Amino acid sequence: MRSILVLNAKGGCGKTTLATNLAAYYAHRKKAVTLVDFDPQQSSMDWLEARPESRPYIHGVSAADGPARIPRDSDVVVMDAPAASHSHALTTLVRRAETLIMPVLPSPIDIRAAHRFTEELMHIGKVMRKQVRLAAIINRARENSPSRYLLEEYLHTVKLPDGRRLPMVAVLRSSQNYIRAAERGVGLSEMGPVSVAHDLELWRPLLRWLNSKRSVPAS
Ligand SMILES: Nc1ncnc2c1ncn2[C@@H]1O[C@H](COP(=O)(O)OP(=O)(O)O)[C@@H](O)[C@H]1O
Ligand SMILES: [Mg+2]
Repeated sequence: MRSILVLNAKGGCGKTTLATNLAAYYAHRKKAVTLVDFDPQQSSMDWLEARPESRPYIHGVSAADGPARIPRDSDVVVMDAPAASHSHALTTLVRRAETLIMPVLPSPIDIRAAHRFTEELMHIGKVMRKQVRLAAIINRARENSPSRYLLEEYLHTVKLPDGRRLPMVAVLRSSQNYIRAAERGVGLSEMGPVSVAHDLELWRPLLRWLNSKRSVPAS
């Protein structure tokens, strides 16, 4: 069972957008997908409710204030973390995953928040023992924006506990396609191929990372 947690203590950075699009991507590839929503706002569950029955099935689990019962026959579990996950709650969430994806927005406030959050993440035992793999994503990037370069520069300085650089596996642009997909309960990979071609291209390095051993801890 593949387990992917999308997390960042900062709200609005794209956790739900990434989680729902990943769930749709794997479902589209005929995987048995469970989407677990740990956020009390339940945006991933709202998305799932809007999902047309004609689309590949995704099993939803609302886990904001109860145990997350994950069907044993799931191939992929995608988890959407709440904002403001810290200390014990964060450690408990991280315990559930083998792969962590952290979206960050290119803004000075988000960079500072990401700095505090990565510091905290790097001190979690499971991360220190390399029992989980972590990568960052720049979300809502705008070409030639100074903040984007600041964020890239910052991410280049982040070191994993073993001294390696934190992988930065995608730069996604700001696009109305994400808003449309969110409304309709679908993922980008399920939309008109011409309108989403550019965005899907930007997803490729992330999917390549996820489909490689680099995103899975050595057992
Ligand atoms: N790449 C993007 N382009 C356009 N809108 C985006 C993008 N990523 C996220 N959004 C929008 O930004 C808002 C916050 O994103 P969301 O995924 O809900 O963040 P989080 O779950 O981290 O709070 C949502 O309205 C979402 O549709
Ligand atoms: Mg969310």
